[in-house]
Amino acid sequence: MTFDTIQAIPLSPALGAEIGGVDLSRPLDDGVIGEIRRALLQFGVIFFQDQDITPEQHLAFARRFGDLVTYPMVKGLDGYPEIAPVIKLEHETDNFGGIWHSDTTYLPQPPMGAILVARELPPEGGDTLFANMVMAYEALPDDMKEKLSELIAINSSAKDHVAKSREDRQKDMVDVPEPLSADHPAVRTHPETGLKSLYVNRGHTVGFKGMAEDESAPLLEELFEHQIRQEFTCRFQWRPGSIAFWDNRSTQHNPINDYHGHRRVMHRITLAGDVPV
Ligand code: SIN
Repeated sequence: MTFDTIQAIPLSPALGAEIGGVDLSRPLDDGVIGEIRRALLQFGVIFFQDQDITPEQHLAFARRFGDLVTYPMVKGLDGYPEIAPVIKLEHETDNFGGIWHSDTTYLPQPPMGAILVARELPPEGGDTLFANMVMAYEALPDDMKEKLSELIAINSSAKDHVAKSREDRQKDMVDVPEPLSADHPAVRTHPETGLKSLYVNRGHTVGFKGMAEDESAPLLEELFEHQIRQEFTCRFQWRPGSIAFWDNRSTQHNPINDYHGHRRVMHRITLAGDVPV
């Protein structure tokens, strides 16, 4: 696929591309936005480098791709409720969302995507891994595809690892939300590309409807291992001015927690999605 107004340099054979030729601090015309959207659908996650955008410009760019939603589990920035701070401080050991996951699949309508801007980075480390769930689905044996086509996955906001990774951020929240839960097909069909993807994730999926734990736990473990095979992934190394925009319907991500003693501050805007089918 070629582009007229942007350049796209793939990051790995599986997914991810660095997008050139755009300055996100400026208003972009519909043609450019259309090409960025096409690139997102093609590569699953796209990256912009050397951008210098304010929170207002971050919001304006995100709004070109749909409605914004507030992240339910941490308070947004003062004055910018739709911008969720993704922070690990010098003295903290857990990193926010530090496990393979697709964002907030415990909601009835999980997001279509998110746009993450690097604000403060550790001197080294703090990369983010991404994985392509369309590839992961397509690589499954036919009998597993058949089995999964019938299954509804149960997703919860309360799985231990993820819940713990949010605790530092929730310390000063007045109303910490109750645990949330939602059921979604284990394989979903992308509303824009029509492609099927594997829609369970280690961060939030706890079982399958109507299946006993001793049957669902080993099946989930097998899928969690399968879906992050190296050949389905890419790794993004942040630098000042980096921005990532991922399609939350067809990818997962995992921020690497390898920078203890240093601070990492990111700003995330989440885009509304639809009910997975
Ligand atoms: C997230 O899951 O939104 C955080 C990703 C990151 O910190 O790289």
